[in-house]
Amino acid sequence: MTLHPSGPHLPYGRQNIDDDDIAAVVSVLKSDWLTTGPAVDEFEAAFAAAVGAPYAVSCAKGTAALHLGYRALGLKEGDLVVVPAVTFLATASAARLVGAEIIFADVDPDSALMTPETLEAALDRAGGPVAVIAPVHMAGQMVDMEAVGAIAARARAGIIEDACHALGGKDVQERPVGSASTGGLAAFSLHPVKVIAGGEGGVVTTGDVDLAAAMRRFLNHGIGRNDLADSAQALAADGTANPWYYEMSEPSPNYRLSDIHAALASSQLNKLDHFVARRRALVARYDAAFAALPSPIRAVIRPSGRVPYGAAAWHLYVALVDFETLGRDRANVMHALRARGIASQVHYLPLNRQPYYRQRYGELHLAGAEAWYERTLSLPLHPGMADDDVDRVVAALSSIVEHGA
Ligand SMILES: Cc1ncc(COP(=O)(O)O)c(C=O)c1O
Repeated sequence: MTLHPSGPHLPYGRQNIDDDDIAAVVSVLKSDWLTTGPAVDEFEAAFAAAVGAPYAVSCAKGTAALHLGYRALGLKEGDLVVVPAVTFLATASAARLVGAEIIFADVDPDSALMTPETLEAALDRAGGPVAVIAPVHMAGQMVDMEAVGAIAARARAGIIEDACHALGGKDVQERPVGSASTGGLAAFSLHPVKVIAGGEGGVVTTGDVDLAAAMRRFLNHGIGRNDLADSAQALAADGTANPWYYEMSEPSPNYRLSDIHAALASSQLNKLDHFVARRRALVARYDAAFAALPSPIRAVIRPSGRVPYGAAAWHLYVALVDFETLGRDRANVMHALRARGIASQVHYLPLNRQPYYRQRYGELHLAGAEAWYERTLSLPLHPGMADDDVDRVVAALSSIVEHGA
């Protein structure tokens, strides 16, 4: 992996593309296949091996991966699904796409992770059986999956892990996120700011052959070639299969990954360990730089909370800022950083506060999600960053806190 320094402007997240990634895409462009073909098969096999999952089903986006997963778990109109309030829109929207109703779970105010306690509270609030629970490994840190898994089993609910931030992470038993043992299904995103970039793309991992088959059918127009209903059409007079014939079991989207995207994603996957190692090193440097700040500054700004449920691959580096004590609002601090060439972001406005959900479910106050949202600020984190970039970000924040500029 070559580091590609960001230059004077430091984005909050960015892909790291080498010549071998470009060569992989060019080779597909020169081949016979552009849409789903051999590069997709190779990528799925490599992804399954990388996360230790029996099956990896690729698709067009992380959002599509969640939609496929919810469908495969049988989630349907009117079913209840628990989603943590602090996550990207897609975790909940994909469940709404199948007509399910969302029960928002509160999160730990310092890590934004759903906890066994906030999950239990959401199950109590649901007022009926919950069909699926969707833990989100926010910023790359792992939810306590052992406890959540036990609660889900008691509630007879399926699990889909939203692992879009967490590729390359491991649970407490050192099993990779997405290995079938850590949950039912896990959904990943190949969006460029994530741990590996496919341009766009998603993957669902599972240990269940039937779930994998159902997802493969659904992502490809509902087309199946097994168990054909109309055998008169399916078979030629001599009993052999008609090569042109297929059947559709239900109207379904086209969520196929293209070979172009798969080639890039495979090439990036080869560097997963390097990306994760670099992200961890940058996080350690941030932590050390924050720890070295004078205590009045540390009282106003500090790293987000850490949890002991695994080893994070770190998609985001989040600082928690006490804007009230600082006497400046978040936009003001973001503009001051921007003036120094440093981008920052906010992950996320709690979903229960989105107009759509307020209208659908009314006002819901979730104290942990609110406390997180009030303080959260995502700082630049991507493998191309130099150690100096981290020092520059922390120095800029420290000067903004100390001198107001
Ligand atoms: C937590 C989470 N879930 C789902 C998604 C959706 O992934 P995609 O952008 O690939 O559709 C994202 C990505 O932005 C995400 O951060």
